[in-house]
Amino acid sequence: MEQPLRGQTALVTGASRGIGAAVAEALSDAGAKVALLARSQDVVEADAARLGGVAVPADVTDDASLWTALDDLVEHLGAPPHIVVNAAGVFGIEPCRSESVRQFDLNVSVNLRGTFLVVRALLPAMLERGMGTIVNVGSVAGRRAFPGNGAYSASKFGVRGYHEVLLEELRGTGVRATLLEPAATDTSIWDPLDPDHDPSLPAREAMLLPRDVADAVLYVASLPPRVRIPLLQIEHS
Ligand SMILES: NC(=O)c1ccc[n+]([C@@H]2O[C@H](COP(=O)([O-])OP(=O)(O)OC[C@H]3O[C@@H](n4cnc5c(N)ncnc54)[C@H](OP(=O)(O)O)[C@@H]3O)[C@@H](O)[C@H]2O)c1
Repeated sequence: MEQPLRGQTALVTGASRGIGAAVAEALSDAGAKVALLARSQDVVEADAARLGGVAVPADVTDDASLWTALDDLVEHLGAPPHIVVNAAGVFGIEPCRSESVRQFDLNVSVNLRGTFLVVRALLPAMLERGMGTIVNVGSVAGRRAFPGNGAYSASKFGVRGYHEVLLEELRGTGVRATLLEPAATDTSIWDPLDPDHDPSLPAREAMLLPRDVADAVLYVASLPPRVRIPLLQIEHS
């Protein structure tokens, strides 16, 4: 099997399930040594052992422990990861009129602030090395409004704004970044909403699969360093 990422290292956040887990698997299959970050310590340890990677049990909302975990990872790898995929995320549906402050804060804290923290911790060393790929997982809801997505969209529109500034700052540095905007993808993020029994939501069979999104990450990470894909939107056909 061809291994275009042989010799490269990758950090994937949200790697304990769903899109992040599929990305970790795809990058590992392509030859990268993958660090799997999520709060579920048992899962990331088991998957890291299976993939010959590194477990990084951490919470992206907890600055101090996240920073320490990433410092430890860089020390362990001897350099920052070549590929950084920000896939940790939360989702929920609640109208603006009744959205709880806690849920709003959680969406912003995990989806937007967590992405910022990971980039902020690793970017200086990636710039120093003059190469690397950052993939930020946004969403179709970072561009389009869906009723009930107030908190989620606020966070994902924020990721898009942050990403667009990052793109400008990275120009000519050798470090590239891609914003992935997947449409609905069949993962456990939908479980509390039971979409197959709610006509206002897409049925699971009409959703993308996690490996579809993982293939897109693999594609952008495998391109020659001279190529960057600033935005990749992924829809169900
Ligand atoms: N599924 C979709 O329809 C869809 C569509 C577009 C975009 N996306 C985006 O894709 C990304 C992955 O979503 P998914 O569908 O794969 O969700 P998922 O199956 O629920 O997985 C979410 C992942 O994020 C991790 N996570 C959540 N909170 C965390 C925290 N505080 N610190 C560290 N890790 C945390 C979870 O691990 P632990 O619980 O172990 O920490 C888990 O690995 C998200 O950014 C989501 O917004 C999803």
